[in-house]
Amino acid sequence: MNEKQRKEHTAQIKAATNPADRKSDKDYAKYFETTYQPPSLKDAKKRGKEDVKVHRGYDIPEDMVGIGKNKKFYIRTYGCQMNEHDTEVMAGILSEMGFENTDSTNEADIILLNTCAVRENAENKVFGEIGHLKVLKRDKPDLILGVCGCMSQEEGVVNRLLQKHQQVDLIFGTHNIHRLPQLLREAMFGKERVVEVWSKEGDIIENLPKIRSGNIKGWVNIMYGCDKFCTYCIVPYTRGKERSRRPEDIIEEVRHLARQGYKEITLLGQNVNAYGKDFDDMKYGLGDLMDEIRKIDIPRIRFTTSHPRDFDDHLIEVLAKGGNLMDHIHLPVQSGSTEMLKIMSRKYTREQYLELVRKIKAAIPNVALTTDIIVGFPNETEEQFEETLSLYREVEYDSAYTFVYSPREGTPAADMVDNVPLEVKKERLQRLNALVNEFSAKKNKQIEGQVVEVLVEGESKNNPEILAGYTSKNKLVNFRGPKSVIGEIVKVRITSAKTWTLDGEMIKDEEGVTNNG
Ligand code: 5AD
Ligand code: SF4
Repeated sequence: MNEKQRKEHTAQIKAATNPADRKSDKDYAKYFETTYQPPSLKDAKKRGKEDVKVHRGYDIPEDMVGIGKNKKFYIRTYGCQMNEHDTEVMAGILSEMGFENTDSTNEADIILLNTCAVRENAENKVFGEIGHLKVLKRDKPDLILGVCGCMSQEEGVVNRLLQKHQQVDLIFGTHNIHRLPQLLREAMFGKERVVEVWSKEGDIIENLPKIRSGNIKGWVNIMYGCDKFCTYCIVPYTRGKERSRRPEDIIEEVRHLARQGYKEITLLGQNVNAYGKDFDDMKYGLGDLMDEIRKIDIPRIRFTTSHPRDFDDHLIEVLAKGGNLMDHIHLPVQSGSTEMLKIMSRKYTREQYLELVRKIKAAIPNVALTTDIIVGFPNETEEQFEETLSLYREVEYDSAYTFVYSPREGTPAADMVDNVPLEVKKERLQRLNALVNEFSAKKNKQIEGQVVEVLVEGESKNNPEILAGYTSKNKLVNFRGPKSVIGEIVKVRITSAKTWTLDGEMIKDEEGVTNNG
C-alpha cells in the first residue's frame, strides 16, 4: 500500500470509529490498541484458579466487515488436528471480512502460516517456508505475511522472526485467533509490525465463524489446553491451561453438524480425558459427554487425544456401548519403561498402562489401539528401549506414530544432560518402525476376506478411478465404486491387505457385515 492509499484507508477507519472516542491523532493511535505483546514461556507455565469465562457473542468489528472484498487469503497448516480446526476458524473469520480463500500463494493478499512447535523439524519447515515467501513479498509489498499457531507462543521463535525475518508483518498466538480482525486492521493500516501473543488465557470464545474444510467429517473442540506438563512437551506452554467447553455448547455444535449431513465427528482436545475436570459446578467427564453425544443421529463419533492417566472406567463403559462410538482408541504411551515414564512425568507406570489396555480390550473386544512413542529420550538405555518394543508386542497395536525425541526450549527435558548419541536414537527409531510395520501388516492381514463398513471420502489420491475411505477402526480402504457413494457408508469386502492400507470391492447393502475392520 502506498502512502496515499494508506492515508485514504486511515481516513476510512477514522470515519468508521466513534468520534467521541477519538479526540486527536494520539487518541486514534490508541485505537490500534495492540502494538507489541511478545510471549513469555514463564507466564505460560503459570496455572491459576481464575474462573473460565465463556464469551458467547462474537462480532467482526464494523469497520472490518467487507475490508477483504476482492482480496484473497491463503492459510498453510502444520501439525495436529487442533491446528487444522483453528485454520477452519481463521478461514471463517476472514470470509466474514470479505476475503476469499485461494490455494495459491501467488494470488494471496494475506498468507498465514499456522505453525506447530512440537518438534524441531516442524519448526524448521516453517522457517524454510518463510524464506521462500520473501520473494512474493518483494513483488507484492502490500502482501500481509502472518505467523500464528504454536510457534508464535515461543519467545525464541518470535525474537528470531523479529530479528531475522523482516518479511513477517504479523505474529499472533493461539489465544489471539478471535482478535484476527483487529490485528489485521493494524497490520494493513499501521506502519509497525504487529505482535500479539497472550501467554496466559483462561477464556473460551464460543460462536466463532468457521469454514470447515470438508462436509463429511468435522472437528469439534471439547476442551483447550493441557495441564499435564510432560517434561518433553511444549504444548502446555503453547496452548495454555485446561479449559472445557460447556456440554450444551458441544452438543449443539454436534447436532448442527448432524443436521448438515456430516457423517463423522471427532471430539478434539490436547488431553480429552481431562474433559470437565475444571468445572466447579458439576461432576461431568468425557464418559458423560460421550454418553450424551452418542444419542445424536450421526453415524460416527471419535475422539482424540487421550492421556492414559485420566482414562476412567465410566468412559470405557460408555465406549463399550458401541453403535456410533467407533472401536478405535488412540492411546499415546510414549515409552514402555516405567523409569522413562517417570522422567517424562507421564504419571503412570508400564503396569498401569497395560492394565488399562486389558480393561479396554475386555470391554471392547476387537478394539483397534494406536499410539505415540518417543525414542531416544535423554539417557534412555538399550534395556529401557527394549521395554518399549516388548510393550508394543504385548499390546499388539494396529499402528503408531513414532518420533525421535526433540528438545524443546523451556521444557524441563531440554535441560537434561543426554548421553544417547543421535545415531543410536535413529537406529532405535528404525527398529521400532520395523516392529510397527510388522504389526500393521499382521493386523491388516486379519481383515482379509471380511466385509467392513467404509465411510467414503472421495477419490484415491493416486488414482481418480479408485475410491478411498476409512473403516470404523480408521483404516484406509481403496476400492472401485460409483462416485455417487462419496459421503456414504458402504460395505466393502477386503480382498488384499497391504502394510498401511487395504484394497477391497464394494458389495451390495443386503450382504452382512463382519464388522471387524
Ligand atoms: N520430541 C519428540 N516427540 C514429541 N512429542 C511431543 N513432544 C515431543 C518432543 N519434544 C510427540 C509425542 C506426542 C506427539 C503428538 O508428539 O509422542 O504424543
Ligand atoms: Fe503441534 Fe502440539 Fe501445537 Fe498441535 S498443539 S500444533 S501438535 S505443538
